[in-house]
Amino acid sequence: MDNIKRVGLLGGGVIGGAWAARAVLNGMDAVVCDTDPEAERKVGEVIENARRAYSMLTIAPLPAPGTWRIVRTLEEAADGADFIQESLPEREDLKIRLLAQAETAMRPDVVIGSSTSGLLPTRLQSGLKHPERFVVGHPFNPVYLMPLVEVCGGEKTSDDTKQRAMAFYRRIGMHPLHVRKEIDGFIADRLMEALWREALWLVNDDVATTEEIDDAIRFGPGLRWAFMGTMLIYRIAGGEPGMRHFMAQFGPSLKWPWTKLMDVPELDTALLDKLCAQSDAQAAGTGIREFERLRDSCLVSIFQGLKANDYGAGRTLADYEKRLWSAQGRDAVAIAVKPEPLRLYEGRVEPGWLDYNGHMNESRYLQVFSTASDALLALIGADTDYVRRGHSFYTAETHIMHLNEMRANTPFHVTTQVLGADEKRLHVWQIIHRGDDGAVVATGEHMYLHVDAKAGRAAPMLPEVRDKLAPIVVAHAGLPRPDNAGRSIGMKRKG
Ligand SMILES: NC(=O)c1ccc[n+]([C@@H]2O[C@H](COP(=O)([O-])OP(=O)(O)OC[C@H]3O[C@@H](n4cnc5c(N)ncnc54)[C@H](O)[C@@H]3O)[C@@H](O)[C@H]2O)c1
Repeated sequence: MDNIKRVGLLGGGVIGGAWAARAVLNGMDAVVCDTDPEAERKVGEVIENARRAYSMLTIAPLPAPGTWRIVRTLEEAADGADFIQESLPEREDLKIRLLAQAETAMRPDVVIGSSTSGLLPTRLQSGLKHPERFVVGHPFNPVYLMPLVEVCGGEKTSDDTKQRAMAFYRRIGMHPLHVRKEIDGFIADRLMEALWREALWLVNDDVATTEEIDDAIRFGPGLRWAFMGTMLIYRIAGGEPGMRHFMAQFGPSLKWPWTKLMDVPELDTALLDKLCAQSDAQAAGTGIREFERLRDSCLVSIFQGLKANDYGAGRTLADYEKRLWSAQGRDAVAIAVKPEPLRLYEGRVEPGWLDYNGHMNESRYLQVFSTASDALLALIGADTDYVRRGHSFYTAETHIMHLNEMRANTPFHVTTQVLGADEKRLHVWQIIHRGDDGAVVATGEHMYLHVDAKAGRAAPMLPEVRDKLAPIVVAHAGLPRPDNAGRSIGMKRKG
């Protein structure tokens, strides 16, 4: 699935737009078919939100973003796509008809994933000429952040299709969960619907408002669900004897009237009006996009916290980051060494990098320099594999001069000049150049120390790295030394 360059998206609403964001931020081009005249604006806004979220989520080197465009016919989105994801409205007849229409423009080997929340794949694939290439890939909102994608095949889905779909979803940072048995609503929506049904009863019967129901979750069990789910939490709740004791204690309550199970309250006007009025009061005028940004920031905080514990969705993020760092090492190999500073990193100022002045915050300058240095280290073979083997470069000293500002979305690139190196040290000079007018935004001078990480002390570079660094040192030896190299911080002395 490494060869997927272009993704065809059928439907660009809440889910399709967010698939576009995930694809684009992972370096793939997205061609999105949607008939809504507002689709371009809506998808653009979702991608902006996603960029903001990723700039908080990770400092790992994301690939250069892909392109995206809206088209009006399914065939245009399908033509030339290496993977198709269908996110059309949740109507079985419509999906079957439109999938068959789109298939006429697809290569026969291309996998089609469907975002359906609960329709059965065996039925959805029934109108296809190549039903074996169809599989459900049920994501969660916001698709660009939530790792889970439930993968469920129909009777005619091939194993190869399931494997390829899971590999693709994994590559773009997701956690595919194979739903082994075809079932309406798959796993997560069955659980969520049971909770939702009960919540609607509680509103209907005036037991609780929408806000009180959300409080009951977000100050309580929802916090635990984020990392341990429900079964493991109940095992712990059983104390030392675990699940058996828990079942003995609470099993009987399953027969008490604690839930309404399959009964559904009549969704009549009175209930809908009450529900929506309570929801409006709860939102207190905050708009959807603002809520989306709050939701994304909170999700990122959860992922970071879980990553620190190497657990649950935090481990998915850590694995994704490892792949991004490794990819940087792989991609670095081809650059030719010339007697000029190396241009190894370019980017844009991400919306999440700004401070209260509306400029890029100082910490992000260091991040930018650090990413450029990692690109240099990857180029000379000091990549994630080298680090895994116990060798690394640690930063010993850094001096940054701030010369200009950058605002959100400003493009930039970094040049790196090697000022010198010996067997344990690497001395570099970097410049951040503003992309729109070429202004020098900042310079950074850094001394890196090569270490034997296991022994915890400086040590000579291994020959494989030293030999790749040597020609760069030679090529840069003739470059003029930057005026401010070696400069120390200080106020001009009077007199
Ligand atoms: N919203 C969620 O939380 C969620 C979560 C997981 C899965 N899903 C599933 O994702 C799918 C899409 O749901 P959504 O929430 O994005 O719905 P949505 O209404 O936001 O998006 C559907 C999009 O399809 C477009 N569309 C309709 N007919 C079309 C046609 N003939 N050609 C091209 N575009 C057409 C619409 O303009 C709309 O933008 C559904 O199957 C849904 O069950 C939704």
